[in-house]
Formats: sequence, structure tokens, C-alpha cells
Amino acid sequence: MDSEVAIDERRERALQERIKAGFVLEDPSEMTPRYRDVLVNTIHIAADLEVMVLPTYLPAIRTAPTLEDKIAVAAACQDELGHAQVMYRILEDFGYNTHEFLLEREPSEWRTFQMVEFPHQDYIEFVVSLCFGDRAGYITTLDLEHNCSFGPFARSLRKVNFEEQFHVSHGERWVKFFCNQSPETKRRVQEAVDFYFPLCVGWFGLPDNLKKRTDQLAYKIRGASNDEMRQLYLSRIVPFAERVGLKVPAHFDESLNKYVLEYEPPIYLDEATRKWDYSRRITWEEQQKIWKRGSPHKPSSIRRLQVEVWGESLWS
Ligand SMILES: [Fe+2]
Ligand SMILES: [Fe+2]
Repeated sequence: MDSEVAIDERRERALQERIKAGFVLEDPSEMTPRYRDVLVNTIHIAADLEVMVLPTYLPAIRTAPTLEDKIAVAAACQDELGHAQVMYRILEDFGYNTHEFLLEREPSEWRTFQMVEFPHQDYIEFVVSLCFGDRAGYITTLDLEHNCSFGPFARSLRKVNFEEQFHVSHGERWVKFFCNQSPETKRRVQEAVDFYFPLCVGWFGLPDNLKKRTDQLAYKIRGASNDEMRQLYLSRIVPFAERVGLKVPAHFDESLNKYVLEYEPPIYLDEATRKWDYSRRITWEEQQKIWKRGSPHKPSSIRRLQVEVWGESLWS
């Protein structure tokens, strides 16, 4: 007689086969335990990431050059919180309590990525982060919308992606503007890009050959691997940077027929000065520890949201 483990394993494999053939799940009752874990983890992280960008925007509201720009930043904040809200709604079906999850959870338990953990220093950094960072985020959420085998999550991302596309366009428009406004603004854009580019490359996670867990692909929670999404990102952002005259450490390699980085990650980031040391490689274990720990700004940024000082200092 088959052991329970073998029967469970067969159930998991059977679900993977059905999904491969195009089956879309609509209800938690259709899930196996492992599918449920992978899906919930994915939505949990996506929700944390949506919220984590909010405190990074505060300096941009303060330094935005015009009232229109302040409104644009505030609108982006509203959009991101709306994206999180959509995800909270789904997570509640899996036993999450939104109030506790958002307002009472220890900052160290938030599962966020380094790219969204550094408060922007000014409006130029904000538009660079929309142009470069939201582009990376958009590639991830677009993949989920097009491929996720859990129908309610995939459909909820239509509105999310419509708005993310707008954030990216807004960022591109202003990056172009500041590249042309004066040598001083162009220099500041380049400085922000120098900081953001490796963060954005890191957004897509470990290289495929080092990734141990591939359940997200096996259950078609998403469609593309880390390296495939990273390549897609480079194919969009490198030509954009070239068009506006910004330097990024990546180019298209004719012989390999793909975009390649001009450095070998992971490299050392001085979090205080925000400078990358291209000559100092760290190990992937060290990099993963840094990702897990989060930037030095992470705890205070999350606390700021949780105690709601936003309302009072938003326009100061
Ligand atoms: Fe978002
Ligand atoms: Fe966004």
C-alpha cells in the first residue's frame, strides 16, 4: 500500500499536470497544500512590496517642484496602497487579518526587497525609481497577470498593471526632462541611476542556476524564471538609458544575442554612501543575508506607516 507521503506527492504532481494543460484554479478548495503555500507566499510578498514603497516617497512629496508634481506623487501613493488592498482582500480568504498584517506586524517580519527600502532623497530620485524600479516591478506583476494559475489573483492585477504602466511612463517622461534641463540635473539623474540600476537587477533575485525552489514555475504561479525576467528588464531599460544618454553597466551582446551585465553580481553596496563597489564581490550567501536583513531604513519606514504620522507631515 502506498504511504501517505507518496499519495500526497501524486496529488501535487497531478495538479501540476492539470495546470500545465491550462487548468485555472478559482477557489482555495481546489488547491493542494503545497500549491496553497507557494501562492500565499507570492501574494504575501507582493503585498509587502506595494506598501514598502510608500515611506520612500515622502521626501519626493516635500521636494517636488510644483503642486502638480506633489499631486502626482500622492496619486502614486494612493495607487500603491490600492494595489496592496487588492492583495489583502485575497489573503483574507487564506486566513490573513489585514489590520494585524499591516499595522501590528513587526517590521523585521516584512518580506520586502532591497530596491524599495531606501527613501528617495529628492524628486529626481523619485522619478528615477519610477522609471527604473517600477519598470522592474511591472515586469513581475505583468508576468503574474498573464500566467498565474489562480484566476482571482491574475484578474486582480489588470488594474494594478494599468497603473504601474502609468508610473513607468511618468518616470520616463521626467527622467528625459531632467536629462535635458541642465548639466546639474542630468548629473543628479545619473547619480540616482548609478545607485538604482544594480538594485533593480537584484530585484529579480538569485540567478536561475542557484535557485533551489522552483515551485512557482512548477505550479505556474508565474510564467518566467528570474533570469528570463531580468533579461526582459534589460531589454527595456538599456535601450531607454541609451536613448536619453544615461550610462548603465549593461549592453546587448551580438554574439550571445542577449543583454549582458558589465559586472558580475553580487557586488558590495555601502548602504550609508549609496555607492556600489564594483571591484568588491561578495558571496551569494552574504547577499542573501543582506536581502533578508533589509536596509537600515526598513524598520523606521514601516513604523512610520504603522503609527500614521503620514497625515501630519505629508505637506510640511
Ligand atoms: Fe504597485
Ligand atoms: Fe508603482
